[in-house]
Amino acid sequence: MKPYYVTTPLYYVNAPPHLGHAYTTVIADVLARYHRMRRGKDQVFFLTGTDEHGQKIQQAAAAAGQTPAAFVEAAVPVFRRLWTTLGITFDDFIRTTEPRHTQGVQQAVARLCQAGQITTGTYTGWYCTPCETFWPGLTLAPGGAPVCPDCRRPVEQIQEENYFFPLEPHREWLRRVIRGDDPATPMAILPETRRREVLAFLEQPLQPLCISRPAARLAWGIPLPSPPCDPGYVTYVWFDALLNYVTAVGYPAADGRWPADVHLIGKDILRPHAVYWPIMLHALGLPPPTTVAAHGWWLVEGEKMSKSRGNIVDPHTVIAEYGVDAYRYFLLREIPFGQDGTFSEQALEKRYTADLANDLGNLVYRTLTMLEKYCDGIIPSAGEADTTRFQADIMETWGPRPVDPLAREVDRYDFQRALAKVWNVIDRANGLIDSQKPWVLARQGQQDGAATQQLHGVLVVLASTLRALAVWLWPFLPTTGEQIWRQLGCPGQVADVPWDHAWRAGTTAGQRIQKGAPLFPRRDVR
Ligand code: MSP
Repeated sequence: MKPYYVTTPLYYVNAPPHLGHAYTTVIADVLARYHRMRRGKDQVFFLTGTDEHGQKIQQAAAAAGQTPAAFVEAAVPVFRRLWTTLGITFDDFIRTTEPRHTQGVQQAVARLCQAGQITTGTYTGWYCTPCETFWPGLTLAPGGAPVCPDCRRPVEQIQEENYFFPLEPHREWLRRVIRGDDPATPMAILPETRRREVLAFLEQPLQPLCISRPAARLAWGIPLPSPPCDPGYVTYVWFDALLNYVTAVGYPAADGRWPADVHLIGKDILRPHAVYWPIMLHALGLPPPTTVAAHGWWLVEGEKMSKSRGNIVDPHTVIAEYGVDAYRYFLLREIPFGQDGTFSEQALEKRYTADLANDLGNLVYRTLTMLEKYCDGIIPSAGEADTTRFQADIMETWGPRPVDPLAREVDRYDFQRALAKVWNVIDRANGLIDSQKPWVLARQGQQDGAATQQLHGVLVVLASTLRALAVWLWPFLPTTGEQIWRQLGCPGQVADVPWDHAWRAGTTAGQRIQKGAPLFPRRDVR
């Protein structure tokens, strides 16, 4: 069976990763973990990696007084370290300097040449070095200095001979694919605003994509294959990097993993992914990715967080302060997928205290404390108690099959709503404790067997709820899911539980709990 194939962009290694990079990678990790639970552990292929060529890297290396090769060698572990800290479970990490990639890129160029898809020509125009982008139609404000429409830094005029990949012959095909008029090769672009943006862009003829750089100007790249190309050219960094999505799965050989189910990207790199990339694939005789899903930007005081703006929030600092799961939770819960969001420590602090420490942390701690106190730390069986009523109370807004509403949100990349739904269960479980007052039932139980039964019924439902929460939370907050699972005394690993088995009322009866420290200690008492 073809595995579920999810990718992140390949990150440029010219600067260390920040919250923006962590965001995409955490989302990919959630999808990978969720699909492993749904389909089976070996039914997912999660790819990330690093983009190591091009002028940005060459410049960063020069600034550091290093060769590009030495520079990237030192930079890549910085990315790997953050992914380890964040609990990212990628299956493969591809570097664009690896032979499996460089060879695949050369073969792709050679094939396109053979297929008559590559031309030569003179490029004259404005070029933004930091963005690696030509701006053919750049119009200057009267008396204004030529600046990049994207990053607002000065552009230079250049003229040079290059290789080009004509995109226009594929435009009608791509429009059909994006509109869904070509059932053989559907490609979804999410959210809808981005799809419309791409379709609007495709209303105008497409300029050929310049796919080479003279090595004399930029040596740090993959040499174009010679023959068929002239020696002395390297590949344009985007043309090189996009191909990673197929070189990682063996291109030019086909091993059954392509097409990717989803490319997760930020909205600023939509055009390369939703226009150039499917056209490149089409020209190579390969199907487009199934989905391109573009998220928004993290802003700091209204500006995109980026190295060049000097407003980076270092993930390691925030994680040291709040913990990995709080960091992951904040990223996923704070903004709807696709929209921009503002990072602020106050907002994170608020989420930590209200959602994690008070709602979730307390539910787990209170439930386990009651199990210790009233049942000697062994989860009772419900006996004659009517648990369906309590269960229905907790799951009321979810309908009869609790798994599906949550899966529906994850399947549409609505992580914010998925978590809101989980928190609805948490609120209701806390509400059940407040309304049933187990401490009163325990007191009454000394004379009244029915009160004990009711107490056990409440505790069984609470334990089943915690068990389900461990499973549902695991893709989002893996450590928390594992801790709840362990503290509840459940056997094996939560990661091995199939998603559909999350809600199994009563399956915890007889387990000895292992209460530990509170999951999210209040920050003022830490
Ligand atoms: N190397 C290219 C991608 C090649 S993919 C074949 C690249 N790298 S990048 O490191 O500059 O950016 C990678 C991703 O980080 C992009 O998806 C971008 O949107 C994302 N982010 C960078 N800053 C961001 C924010 N402030 N907020 C959210 N994501 C942002 O582009």
